[in-house]
Amino acid sequence: MLSDSDSVARDVKAEQTGLLANLFGKVLDFSENGLFLVDSDRKVILWNEWMVQASSLGREEVMGAAFVEVFPDLKGKRIESVINAALDAHTASLLSRSLNKAIFPLYFSELGGENQRIEQSVTVKPIQSDGHDYCLVQITDVTPMVQREGVLRVLAKEAEAALEVAEEASRFKSEFTSTVSHELRTPLTSIRGSLGLIASGVMGELKPEIGRLISIACNNTERLLFLINDILDISKIESGKIGFVMGPVDLLAVLLQSIEANQAYGEQYEVRYVLNDVVGGITVYADTDRLMQVLNNLLSNAAKFSPKGVEVEINVIRKNKMVRVEVRDYGSGIPEQFKSRIFEKFSQADGSDTRKVGGTGLGLSISKAIVEQMGGVIGFNVPEGQGTIFYIDICLFKEK
Ligand SMILES: Nc1ncnc2c1ncn2[C@@H]1O[C@H](COP(=O)(O)OP(=O)(O)O)[C@@H](O)[C@H]1O
Ligand SMILES: [Mg+2]
Repeated sequence: MLSDSDSVARDVKAEQTGLLANLFGKVLDFSENGLFLVDSDRKVILWNEWMVQASSLGREEVMGAAFVEVFPDLKGKRIESVINAALDAHTASLLSRSLNKAIFPLYFSELGGENQRIEQSVTVKPIQSDGHDYCLVQITDVTPMVQREGVLRVLAKEAEAALEVAEEASRFKSEFTSTVSHELRTPLTSIRGSLGLIASGVMGELKPEIGRLISIACNNTERLLFLINDILDISKIESGKIGFVMGPVDLLAVLLQSIEANQAYGEQYEVRYVLNDVVGGITVYADTDRLMQVLNNLLSNAAKFSPKGVEVEINVIRKNKMVRVEVRDYGSGIPEQFKSRIFEKFSQADGSDTRKVGGTGLGLSISKAIVEQMGGVIGFNVPEGQGTIFYIDICLFKEK
């Protein structure tokens, strides 16, 4: 017979166990994960609040029901065999999203809108207690991670597409350059030749208004040719395809030749080139044609940015193993904010359509590339008074 005190003690213990179970249930309801427990008869014996929300199945519907009654769609699916294995063989499993996609039919319930499926990672664990087997299923919501992954995948695809476009553009650029070279330059040269002949009058006297139109056409064709040649030069330099024929070059001869070549251009701006007393016999190490190209650009720039009737001076200064050629003009100079960009491609202090003087803005960037390839330096100084001094330093030729 049990004494009264024994039965009181038992009642107190039972009450404490009930209280604890209640408290334990509340703690589980706070979990940010889905939790449920299945017993060895495959019946659900615990179902936390997260599961209620995500499955829309209340505890009263689920408790004591068989797992496959709660989730009829999962009969025969992998999750069922995983739960069986936990109960029968005590094996734990992790069902990751990448292999199993959405495992349980669980949704975020959104008011009014379409319900969105919860992406899940599921752990299944065998538990033994008081000689009984249970299976604990824990569901983690990995939707934000999956969405981030999706965004990253889209970004990666976009970057790949952009790269393809850039490569295509670069291929197009080189093809375009060679097309320009062959298909545009040759006919343009012939057009300019024909227009020049007509303008000169050798094909017969022209009415003044026709003569004016022909000469406009002639000038514009010339400008186009300059532009095309500059673009071709810069692309050849950039792709390293430009060939330099380096050797001893008589500096005085090259200077005289450049001045002569620019005489007519200077006259358009009423500018005269003056070569200050150069000693003959200076031999530099250079490519004659490329050196002429640089000098032509410096001389033409000096003329077109000079006031009318003013001289452009050319000076030669020897310094150690180098020689400096200076081209000094008395123009308006280089605006302070433009100085750092002057050697960049297509850069002009006055890039407007209403610019008074022509040009492509490529001359100085080509000149810089050429001078540097020849082992020299190009730069400019602001002299006392007005104007600018552009200079190039090139190597003296030394006999072996
Ligand atoms: N001697 C100079 N005086 C003033 N500005 C100059 C002079 N030389 C060059 N510049 C400026 O630098 C720009 C770029 O020159 P350049 O590269 O030779 O191109 P372009 O002669 O075709 O304009 C010119 O448009 C002009 O703004
Ligand atoms: Mg120029």
